[in-house]
Amino acid sequence: MSETIIQLEEINFFYNGFQAIENVSLEIGTGVYGLLGPNGAGKTTLMKIVLGHLRPAAGKGRILGTDLESGLTEVRRRIGYMPESHCLIPGMDAVTLTSYMGELSGMPRQEAIKRAHEVLYYVGLEESRYRLADTYSSGMKQRLKLALALVHDPVLMILDEPTSGMDPGGREEMLELIADIASKGRMNMIISSHILADIETTCARVLIMNHGRIVSEQNTRDFVDRETSILEVGIKGEARAFLERLGGIQAEMDRRGFLRLYLPADFPRMSLFAIAMEAGVQIRHFRPSRITLEDAFVTAIGESRAR
Ligand SMILES: Nc1ncnc2c1ncn2[C@@H]1O[C@H](COP(=O)(O)OP(=O)(O)OP(=O)(O)O)[C@@H](O)[C@H]1O
Ligand SMILES: [Mg+2]
Repeated sequence: MSETIIQLEEINFFYNGFQAIENVSLEIGTGVYGLLGPNGAGKTTLMKIVLGHLRPAAGKGRILGTDLESGLTEVRRRIGYMPESHCLIPGMDAVTLTSYMGELSGMPRQEAIKRAHEVLYYVGLEESRYRLADTYSSGMKQRLKLALALVHDPVLMILDEPTSGMDPGGREEMLELIADIASKGRMNMIISSHILADIETTCARVLIMNHGRIVSEQNTRDFVDRETSILEVGIKGEARAFLERLGGIQAEMDRRGFLRLYLPADFPRMSLFAIAMEAGVQIRHFRPSRITLEDAFVTAIGESRAR
């Protein structure tokens, strides 16, 4: 069983009476987790609670083995945080800023400087490393923020909207960097985004958030693996008779009244028409369906709105 990195139990948080986090319980193990949700879902707030920057009104939590209540000052040295907002100190060049962050996390000065050069090279800022960070473009600032989160070699990285403000090329490179860090397997990560594709490409598991609650948890890969073998079928007549003849095939009815059939990849699809005829029904709609994270997202968000 994988080690528990973060455990939250019934966490609630309010901003001046507004409930931004509602009864959130979750367990995050090793690996890369995505936190997906629309604007205002509570992603940043939840991350700040995990970092100990915000204190929940109620609930318990353990982060890297330490209770939330006991304070996370020590634990934060083992966490790298890439905030959503700008956190760059004006008047400092990238090397100075990055090594300063390393020192703040407890690294000896010489080691912090050496490591600053390494991580700036890694994120592709080696040529601009002596420039004032204030003069950086948005994309460069995002890279620098990643370097700041990496410099002290943390056990857990918390990346809040890492691709925000980046153009498509920059986004791609940022996602590649994140995937590269993840592939080394030493760091655990939580990545928030409202962009489904970001999460789909980088995270093994995804938590979907809406209105301060976790509304769904999924394995990202399940969707990708299933992709080819889902068929959307519209039936005129008694769907039950048709399904009975299909035997053990997993099926569900979607909101438009179509059946979603989860067929083994080698299932002869055209035989469905013969089966329909035997069952005395007609197939009126027949289309391969792709269940994506987007479907899961829309469904989860829809269900949480309906509550
Ligand atoms: N300092 C604050 N004071 C009052 N309300 C706040 C504050 N910060 C956030 N909120 C509210 O709490 C809710 C959750 O905000 P949060 O920033 O955590 O969402 P988010 O999922 O990170 O959104 P985004 O995708 O826009 O970054 C929102 O309704 C927001 O308006
Ligand atoms: Mg946010």
